[in-house]
Amino acid sequence: METTVNQDTHLYPKVQIFSDLEALSAAAAEFIATISRKVTESTGNFSMALSGGVTPRPLYALFGSTLYRERIDWKRVRIFWTDERCVPPDHPESNYKLAFDSFLSRVSIPPNNIHRIKGEASADQAARAYERDIRLFLGGPAFPIFDLIILGVGEDGHTASLFPASGAAKERVRVVAPVYLEPPKLNRVTLTLPTLNNAVQILFLVSGKSKQNVIKEIVEQGNPHHYPAGLVQPRQGYSMWFLDNDAANLLTQNNYR
Ligand code: 6PG
Repeated sequence: METTVNQDTHLYPKVQIFSDLEALSAAAAEFIATISRKVTESTGNFSMALSGGVTPRPLYALFGSTLYRERIDWKRVRIFWTDERCVPPDHPESNYKLAFDSFLSRVSIPPNNIHRIKGEASADQAARAYERDIRLFLGGPAFPIFDLIILGVGEDGHTASLFPASGAAKERVRVVAPVYLEPPKLNRVTLTLPTLNNAVQILFLVSGKSKQNVIKEIVEQGNPHHYPAGLVQPRQGYSMWFLDNDAANLLTQNNYR
């Protein structure tokens, strides 16, 4: 049974807690189908940025299932990514490959609606090309406005590829930034915090006991370590956190009432 544990979004991010990742993913699919229909009805299309990692995989599998292949009007959806590793699109670490194999290869989405980050280029070249691509479709000299951005959280409080104390996490001018990591870690490309905070809707998906401490700090203690995930607070949009019981294990619900 889902529990909505708080209403005061100005005090705490809005949180929903689910029994497990399967229930969380089913709720996320419904949430996204609902807002994509509403946005498409009013603007004609729906821009959604996907994160990588393990947590969103059941959601992406649902997108590719018979239920959501029809439920979502994929011809009107523009797909972007929150971040990407600097690898070719067929590399096992590619976030594009994850989404393509899970659902993009199964739904009727026009190829031109898929805005892949060209991870085969250098991090800076890929970042600049992706920023141009985003601006071409989401316009504006200012920061682009995504209808929905799906995010995860690392145990260290990172989100997208905005790692604590990194240059990319401090970037406040560029829409997209390169991320340089020590080998064997792969360099990356990421949306920057001001871009994330310009979204209409942010949806965090967080599962597992390994995230319980960072969730406690961000959701309930005001993010004392200034984790990048906790700095995602849309200026004029909304932020929703979908947690499973394990990730929410340390939350004391009376904080929300
Ligand atoms: C990525 C993601 C990254 C991810 C977190 C959580 O490209 O890896 O954008 O920010 O969301 O690392 O990953 P898990 O879902 O695997 O815990």
